[in-house]
Amino acid sequence: MRKANLEDKPDLLRLDNLVFGDASYSASSWEDALRNPAVLIYISEDLKGKKQQNGLTGFVYALYADNTLEIVKVGVEPASRRKHIGTQLIRHACKESNAQKCLVDVSEKNKAALEFYYTLGFTFLMRRKKYYADGSDAEVLEHTCKVIK
Ligand SMILES: CC(C)(COP(=O)(O)OP(=O)(O)OC[C@H]1O[C@@H](n2cnc3c(N)ncnc32)[C@H](O)[C@@H]1OP(=O)(O)O)[C@@H](O)C(=O)NCCC(=O)NCCS
Repeated sequence: MRKANLEDKPDLLRLDNLVFGDASYSASSWEDALRNPAVLIYISEDLKGKKQQNGLTGFVYALYADNTLEIVKVGVEPASRRKHIGTQLIRHACKESNAQKCLVDVSEKNKAALEFYYTLGFTFLMRRKKYYADGSDAEVLEHTCKVIK
């Protein structure tokens, strides 16, 4: 697990597109993010063999400000799910940022992600009504980073 750099941009683009499809970011958005010190991007790699996505198995994209880490998105390659890579990415981001609190918005429709965050120990903070383009609400979840570091 390590911080991403500009050389990782093609692999991040590919994995983002694979995991998030139409909601994935453009090459220029990734470039801006990788150059922005307020954006924290950590990646996990398959170190045994570079079979999958040139070795990239997952990423977390987060913003850090005022001791708070805001998870914008976390994605794990489909073939590598349920191996605790997502858990490790969130833990790593909390630890490296030294944040005291972690926040995330999750669509009420994304049951797998809700299960994932609640399993990690996140708790419900508030609901943002019709937050997403498809009309679904966002559940805002929070966690005290200390516990997941
Ligand atoms: C959500 C996501 C990041 C989870 O990554 P992951 O590496 O598979 O998650 P983990 O292996 O760390 O899961 C930890 C625990 O969360 C729960 N969990 C994870 N995925 C789950 C699922 N699909 N259904 C139910 N529970 C799930 C389980 O309790 C799991 O522990 P277990 O496998 O020992 O039972 C991954 O499924 C993904 O990339 N999804 C698509 C993108 C997305 O929706 N991202 C989140 C919103 S930004």
